[in-house]
Order: sequence, then structure tokens, then C-alpha cells
Amino acid sequence: MNKQEELKKIHEKWFSQCKCELKKTATQPVPGNGSAHAKIVFIGEAPGKSEDEQGRPFVGAAGKFLAEMLESIGLKREEIYITNIVKYRPPNNRDPLPEEKDACREWLIEELNFINPKLVVFLGRHSMNDFFPAEKISAIHGKLLIKKFNKIETKYFLPLYHPAAALYNGGMRETLTEDFKKIPKFLEKIKKQENKISLASQNKIF
Ligand code: URA
Repeated sequence: MNKQEELKKIHEKWFSQCKCELKKTATQPVPGNGSAHAKIVFIGEAPGKSEDEQGRPFVGAAGKFLAEMLESIGLKREEIYITNIVKYRPPNNRDPLPEEKDACREWLIEELNFINPKLVVFLGRHSMNDFFPAEKISAIHGKLLIKKFNKIETKYFLPLYHPAAALYNGGMRETLTEDFKKIPKFLEKIKKQENKISLASQNKIF
């Protein structure tokens, strides 16, 4: 089985294992989607109406905007991976409740560790606050955060405004577009940092 097929199996396992109460009202689960080899994983909040209908994340208006921004930095959707904190649509698109986030958390952690991306990009304050509860998106959007969590391998994080929030707000849209363009530079920085670390550990051996 290749890595992409293994990832599919992980999602299939969670379709039955996940205890999220939103299962009762959602049409279907919306698992993460994209490359199992992705260097970047984007995390949104929860599926909306179109996502609930199609079973794929970010396929509505926000998803189209996201695809445009990806294209602006030379990336295709198939090269990256997109997921949500919560895998089922909350009724009327209300914010997910803490217990709904908790019920979906192990699924998120497993997909993140399986893909093990270089960079995790938070789309919006809800996804950022799940990892950095004390931070304000207005203060730290577009800044690279470095933190080692117990449960996940990746330690580089970039908070961005949510594309749905920025879509119809001129100022926020401009900020998000500008922040997005920093992604290639940050990936380069992470690569250099990792090369330094691996050199340092090699030097320790000799
Ligand atoms: N907004 C999200 O946060 N996730 C989606 O999948 C779609 C819209």
C-alpha cells in the first residue's frame, strides 16, 4: 500500500471511530484532502454547506479563493493538504463547540503526524486558537511561529486570516494575499534551519 492509500485507510478508520456529535446532523464526514506527501498542511475550522454536500474541504467560495492564492505562489491544490479542526458540518455553520473539537482532535493529530509537513498553516483564528489559545490572529497573522508540541512532529506554524472572512473585506483580503505570498520564503527558511540542525547533529556524532 502506498502512502496515499494508507492515508485513505486512516480516514476510513475515523469515519467509524470518531465520536463527534455533529455526525447526527451532518450529511457525511469531510476528511482532509490532498497529497499525503505535502510539505504544507492547511487547517480550517469546519466544513460548510458545499463541503458537507461534496465530502471535501474548501470547495465553496472560500475554497476558490484559496485555490487562487495557491496558484499565485505556484502551488496546486493536489500538492498540498487541506483539512479542518472538525470533520463534520455544524448546523447552520455555527462555530464548533469545544467538545466537538475535542472529539475530532485525535483524527487531526493522526493525519498531521502521518503527513508530517514542514509547515502547518492555520486558516483563521479558530484553527490557530486550537493550538495557540492565548494568541490574537490580528496580532500574529503572517508571522512564522516555532513551537514544539508533545503530540505533533511539525514545529513551524503560520496563522493567516480565514479566506471566508477575507473574501468580502477589502483590507483583510489584501492582508491575507500579502501574508500568503510569504509562504515560499518561510519554507526556504525552515529548510535552512533543518539543514543546520541535521549538520549540528552529524557534528555531534563525529
Ligand atoms: N471553511 C472552513 O473552515 N473549512 C471548510 O472546509 C470550508 C470553509
